[in-house]
Amino acid sequence: MPDPILRISGVDVRYGRTLALSDIDIDLFEGEAVGLLGTNGAGKTTLLNALSGFLRPAAGELRLFGASINRCPPHVIVRRGLLHLSQERDLFGDLTVHDNLRLGSLARAAKSFDRNLERVCHYFPRLKERLRQRASTMSGGEQQMLAIGRALMAEPRVLLFDEPSAGLSPLFVQEIGAMMQALRKEGEITIILVEQNMLLAAQVIDRYYMLRAGRIVARGPASELEKDHEELAREYYL
Ligand SMILES: Nc1ncnc2c1ncn2[C@@H]1O[C@H](COP(=O)(O)OP(=O)(O)O)[C@@H](O)[C@H]1O
Ligand SMILES: [Mg+2]
Repeated sequence: MPDPILRISGVDVRYGRTLALSDIDIDLFEGEAVGLLGTNGAGKTTLLNALSGFLRPAAGELRLFGASINRCPPHVIVRRGLLHLSQERDLFGDLTVHDNLRLGSLARAAKSFDRNLERVCHYFPRLKERLRQRASTMSGGEQQMLAIGRALMAEPRVLLFDEPSAGLSPLFVQEIGAMMQALRKEGEITIILVEQNMLLAAQVIDRYYMLRAGRIVARGPASELEKDHEELAREYYL
């Protein structure tokens, strides 16, 4: 087995006295996509925030490319290649699509901008048609595409998606699902996908972890999500 790109071992995260995550172990290998499932409040976003340096683990260790990131601030973790797409999207609403994409690319050499822009426009033709449009005037689905596109401009090696399909219409869910599948085919990026939509997750990921009340309570291959998603939902979401 090669070394994992990302190793989460024995991680606890607390909010004050509340234990939000308890004894989390996940290994992620290069080019893999792993799903984090579980109902609201299970601790999914908390885990992503710990990985991206916004929260410090109270116990355990996070290792990225073999080096501990337990004490790294967010900007250092981004520089090392891990990017977290938050549920809030954090776009600059007054700026155009093009300028939002440019901001995503700031940490990269200017000459890679055109290539990355072309790649993002290839994934999301809708953005190509709207490069001069202000971000705030786009629909929720288009804004989500822009948020993903901006993240890709930074050429991340590990990308954390936090419920990218939440609140979107079926058409956009499909487009974003197709985009994540295409990204996987390129094989250069390692993904953690937080998703409540198990069928969407199943199209993208290799295997899943189910969180409940801050603990991993189940794990398995993505094929289980297609077959048994109703049973899993009954067992872990109710
Ligand atoms: N900033 C915070 N302060 C205190 N408790 C929080 C904070 N953020 C989340 N929590 C709590 O931690 C638990 C996990 O939340 P979260 O990680 O957002 O879950 P999920 O993303 O799976 O819906 C919940 O009980 C939530 O109320
Ligand atoms: Mg969340």
